[in-house]
Amino acid sequence: MSQPSVNIGMVGHVDHGKTTLVSALSGVWTDTHSEEMKRGISIRLGYADTTFRKCPDCPEPQCYTVADKCEGCDKPSEELRTVSFVDAPGHETLMATMLSGAAIMDGAILVIAANETCPQPQTKEHLMALNIIGIQNIVIVQNKIDLVPKEKVIEHYHQIKEFVKGTVAENAPIVPISAQQNINVDALIMTIEEMIKSPTYKIDKPPHMLIARSFDINKPGTPIKKITGGVIGGTLTEGVLHPGDELEIRPGRKVESDGTTRWEPIKTKVSLIIAGKDDVEEATPGGLLAVGTTLDPTLTKSDTLTGQVAGIPGTLPPTRDDLKLELHLLERVVGVSDEEEIGPIKTSEPLMLNVGTATTVGVVTSARKDIAEVKLKRPVCAESGSTVAISRRVGSRWRLIGVGVIED
Ligand code: GTP
Repeated sequence: MSQPSVNIGMVGHVDHGKTTLVSALSGVWTDTHSEEMKRGISIRLGYADTTFRKCPDCPEPQCYTVADKCEGCDKPSEELRTVSFVDAPGHETLMATMLSGAAIMDGAILVIAANETCPQPQTKEHLMALNIIGIQNIVIVQNKIDLVPKEKVIEHYHQIKEFVKGTVAENAPIVPISAQQNINVDALIMTIEEMIKSPTYKIDKPPHMLIARSFDINKPGTPIKKITGGVIGGTLTEGVLHPGDELEIRPGRKVESDGTTRWEPIKTKVSLIIAGKDDVEEATPGGLLAVGTTLDPTLTKSDTLTGQVAGIPGTLPPTRDDLKLELHLLERVVGVSDEEEIGPIKTSEPLMLNVGTATTVGVVTSARKDIAEVKLKRPVCAESGSTVAISRRVGSRWRLIGVGVIED
């Protein structure tokens, strides 16, 4: 399997079939010979890489497959490219996870189940998130078509068309499928190939990795001599990374002494890189990768480093305790039945911010119409000009109300 070259988000309402579709697109895990460590890393990253392939002889769309042999004519299929899927949970309480996942998506598949009226609340909320974060390359999947008669599928198609009017997905193709029955999955692969191209990245810059997961892969009771260093998982947004590279992770580690708290960057070294299920001598941007380090695994266990940024020492953006944001707010809160208007941001109000893969909460210290300053509870490492998703507490949960652009 080659290295993945693109991250594709799977978004949509709870139970509409995202996980089922990822497994239909990625086939079965057959690599039983891989070392236990690599297997453990892939499973824990919660990601699926898959290689899209094409039969040289069969017609479209039947020629598109993820199998080594064409299902139509049994000839060996040819590799097109490897993609990584970023699975975003559809439950409304997990919107923060969806938003931090969105930070690393190059394109997205919006899964909408045909057996429920469209739009459901998180169908709307996820599409709005893609819209304001600016993810342009979208394919809509109309799933579970095996559960409803043809007329209903057509009626539902018109509901989708109506719903996406005026959004980034207005002209997105809609592919009717059954992920569970494997119907039309070939046509979906063809559409993804057309619509979600692998971006071209700046590989001449120093490597910059957004950390989405971090973990300790050692079994309890492993003797000290056999302990493997901490592992971080995420995506390179630019640059290339090699085993042996020195690494700095920011904001790093929280240090509390004499009643004060500060964050110290963590220094380590890359011991191993896994991309596309193999260990590689060079990792390039696009797709998810796991990086083994020489860190004490207690520093990486249980996603402790999620939301941080890794790169060559001295090249990372600054760690910020405060953000000054140029505001772009929505008109209405999305995803609730009585969509209320969004009032201006006020001094002292708490906000939830998604900055890259980081989720942090802050309190507004100053607010004007288009600019707000926020003091963060937990600092972030971010470049000026980066986009931040802003959520406000409405009722019992955080609701996306707009985006901000970090000013210096
Ligand atoms: P969350 O991750 O919780 O948001 O859910 P999800 O969107 O990943 O949904 P999941 O893939 O877990 O599917 C939910 C249920 O729908 C499961 O019971 C699936 O078996 C079923 N399902 C998914 N796709 C299809 C389909 O095409 N047809 C039918 N009949 N059932 C499906």
